[in-house]
Amino acid sequence: MADPITLLLDVPSGWAGHWAGPLSELLPGARLLRQDEGPIDTARVDYLITFRPRKGLIASLANLKAVFSLGAGVDGILADPDFPRDIPLMRFVDRSLSRELAQYVVMHVLIFHRGQRYFDAAQAMNKWRQRPLLRPTEDTRIGILGMGEIGTMCAERLRDLDFPVTGWSRTRKSVTGVESFSGAGELAPFLARSDILVCLLPLTPETKGILNAKTFALLPRGAFVINAARGGHLIEADLVEAIDTGHLAGATLDVFQHEPLPADSVLWNHPKITVTPHIAAITDPRAAARAISEGITALERGEPAAHRVNIARGY
Ligand code: NAP
Ligand code: GLV
Repeated sequence: MADPITLLLDVPSGWAGHWAGPLSELLPGARLLRQDEGPIDTARVDYLITFRPRKGLIASLANLKAVFSLGAGVDGILADPDFPRDIPLMRFVDRSLSRELAQYVVMHVLIFHRGQRYFDAAQAMNKWRQRPLLRPTEDTRIGILGMGEIGTMCAERLRDLDFPVTGWSRTRKSVTGVESFSGAGELAPFLARSDILVCLLPLTPETKGILNAKTFALLPRGAFVINAARGGHLIEADLVEAIDTGHLAGATLDVFQHEPLPADSVLWNHPKITVTPHIAAITDPRAAARAISEGITALERGEPAAHRVNIARGY
């Protein structure tokens, strides 16, 4: 009898239980190895399921056929210099993930746009303080950096709330009611008309540090920044400086240079910054198990799996 297909589930301790059930259900013939269940026979592993593999793990898997990312972003996997560039890497793409991130972005756009922090402060003082919108919706221009699976859904949801929306991507897009800017040459005019800037780019050598002092200077005075992509996109000190000098109105950050965000980071207590702990969109284990089982089934038949990452491009 042929050896069963062997999967290694590499998730933070405490999370394996969430993933193992749906995977075993959808791949009943496969052997599922978990790092929390003792030593692994690394030579037997056919498929790795991971998000941020620890250093040395991938190098130890000599017979690896493919890697499945538990997230949309694969920067944590490609950061491993031992990642074998000739095997397929699949990222997680699912409507549930885009929808959650779109909810997060819409919520934080509205909290800023509607001045919710002002009313929270008034409530804390038992004060009845009415105030109109500081800027009409039709004049609040939203710019989305990254018009992929997630950025496009965010753009559509915000457009449907009557905000003027533009997107910036490598290649030009055609999304109804959303103006498209593309390439490095069109970044400056895109930024100049972004009262709220939302970052949904993948982290690659080209996009690393893209949210910096120069970028912020190109935004209109009073702009607001939402980073729900990766901490590596943002130069945190430049953001604080741009807010403290009054050029930017504030920011919402879900992702950070160092995660968990260190307890002594100035970002935690900054009055104009909202911090969330990388929860803008959390992968649904059932949806991920479905995508992984379909991918493995395809690969075992010698067919391509969906959502294969272009390793040279980095996303
Ligand atoms: P995607 O479908 O691959 O879309 C990426 C977009 O970025 C594409 O529109 C792409 O342009 C654009 N892009 C890439 N490099 C660029 C460059 N150098 N210049 C201009 N545009 C560039 O990715 P996705 O599924 O939407 O996910 C986006 C990111 O969201 C992920 O990589 C991850 O980091 C982040 N994320 C965060 C959370 C969270 O909880 N905070 C959850 C899920 C995802 P083209 O279309 O022209 O190629
Ligand atoms: C989460 O950060 C993801 O990339 O899906």
